Amino acid sequence: MTSPTVLPRPVTARTAPGEFLLDRATAITAPAPLATAAVWLQSALRPATGLPLPVTEEESGPGIVLTLRPELGAEAYRLESGPTGVRIEGGDPGGVLHGCQTLLQLLPPRIYRRARITDERWAVPGAVVEDAPHFRWRGVMLDVARHFLPKREVLRFIELMAMHRLNTLHLHLTDDQGWRVEILSRPRLTGTGGWRRTSQLGSTIDDLTEDRPHGGFYTQDDIREIVARAAEHGITVVPEIDVPGHSQAAVAAYPELGVTGEPVEVMTRWGVSPHVLNTEESTIDFFREVFDEVMALFPGTFIGVGGDECPKEQWRNDPRTRQLMAERGLADENALQAWFVARVAAHVAERGRRVFGWDEILEGELPPGAVVASWRGMTGAVTAARRGYDVVSCPDDQVYLDYRQSEHPDEPIPVSVPVTLEDAYAFDPVPAGLSGEQAARVLGGQANLWTEHVDTPRMVDYYAFPRLCAVAEALWCGPGRRDFDEFRTRLYGAHLPRLDAIGVEYRARTGPLPWQTRPGLVGAPATRAEREEHMNRRVAAIRT
Ligand code: ACM
Repeated sequence: MTSPTVLPRPVTARTAPGEFLLDRATAITAPAPLATAAVWLQSALRPATGLPLPVTEEESGPGIVLTLRPELGAEAYRLESGPTGVRIEGGDPGGVLHGCQTLLQLLPPRIYRRARITDERWAVPGAVVEDAPHFRWRGVMLDVARHFLPKREVLRFIELMAMHRLNTLHLHLTDDQGWRVEILSRPRLTGTGGWRRTSQLGSTIDDLTEDRPHGGFYTQDDIREIVARAAEHGITVVPEIDVPGHSQAAVAAYPELGVTGEPVEVMTRWGVSPHVLNTEESTIDFFREVFDEVMALFPGTFIGVGGDECPKEQWRNDPRTRQLMAERGLADENALQAWFVARVAAHVAERGRRVFGWDEILEGELPPGAVVASWRGMTGAVTAARRGYDVVSCPDDQVYLDYRQSEHPDEPIPVSVPVTLEDAYAFDPVPAGLSGEQAARVLGGQANLWTEHVDTPRMVDYYAFPRLCAVAEALWCGPGRRDFDEFRTRLYGAHLPRLDAIGVEYRARTGPLPWQTRPGLVGAPATRAEREEHMNRRVAAIRT
């Protein structure tokens, strides 16, 4: 029985008689709407098999046949293999792609190698797989602001997401420490905001700094390529421009956006900058134009406005801000933050998009259609669903992939609580205590990979995998069909060899390899009780 090797675990999978041997006569047949899926499958199978696998619209003899069957539903698929070929039916092109990924997993892990392997029989075992996702938002956030992830690495990450049937890539594009997306009308956002002089090493304020600059940004052509490549995999890219806090890079580029007007540099320390945006109409206009360019680049429904962790000291101490608050009839700085987010959100909504923001946006009124990312535990998820907003759950203590992976003393720069493979696998985006209608507000969930301490693509692999395999299965299967012991057996026995063949530098079962440790950097570990106390204080301002 080979089908139990598939990850994420299918709804049903059983073996069937016989096998289908791929050979020089094998073709991939697909109707025009599935041409992209067919070409991708061809590109995935060709290097290791060395077979031509021509793509045709007309079936001619045994081969791989891709078809659409809308009645299966969104992203669902059915795969049947046997002596007469392989047939993959999908409810939509995304479903067909998921079926193609399953087909790859029915073959030996060496199928993922990128050069011809001549001593393998490329036989697809007989199988019937019927499968569909539990949650529709199965995501991961990459923080490309703290440490820039080169475009080629984002494209590679998209391939890994598709392999795990993840369908939403949230790009955290701006923060205090860097602005990573080219905005043609405001070139200094990347010209000045796209790099910093130095970077903090470690997680405490008196830690050492590195003696070299860090930077990088995506051109608009890069973004179009990323978005298009993701779409070819059925993945939507959700951009985030974080306002009105986490904005020091923007203020460094355009000091008139700041409260004091004083020049600042792009932040070189971790933590949250006090240098927030001012709330002048001119600043709102500036960001309307930024968001217009962003919306032109990212065609998806959801547009991220951040909204998290906006320190209020500068606003509180600034006479001009107090005057603006009085003119607008706003009672306090929390109301001013809500006012700012609402202005940007209205602009996004007027253009037919839906605003996506961190759970701090619940501290004020929200436009209809807003989607709340619940990160400070699940409080935001409960509140948002009860208030009638859609939810994406990403509770820090379950799916923050920058948190340490174990209590192992050699975990690199350990922050907060351990989020183990088992914790990630237990992730359920639907909090307890909701009615059926409220629970239906939970679109799904995502893992978030913050990169203060994830400074290279190699370490992205270490922090993301294999925990992201666990999150992907949690979101694909939902709470009813999970068994950690069985998952672990499948992961170690069948799936990690695939990641080995691709060259993913995941965290080994035994802990970090010597070159994955960071001796001398102590980090900021916390206990579960300390974290809970900290988060409870922070979510107190959420309006229920
Ligand atoms: C966050 O972790 N500041 C959303």
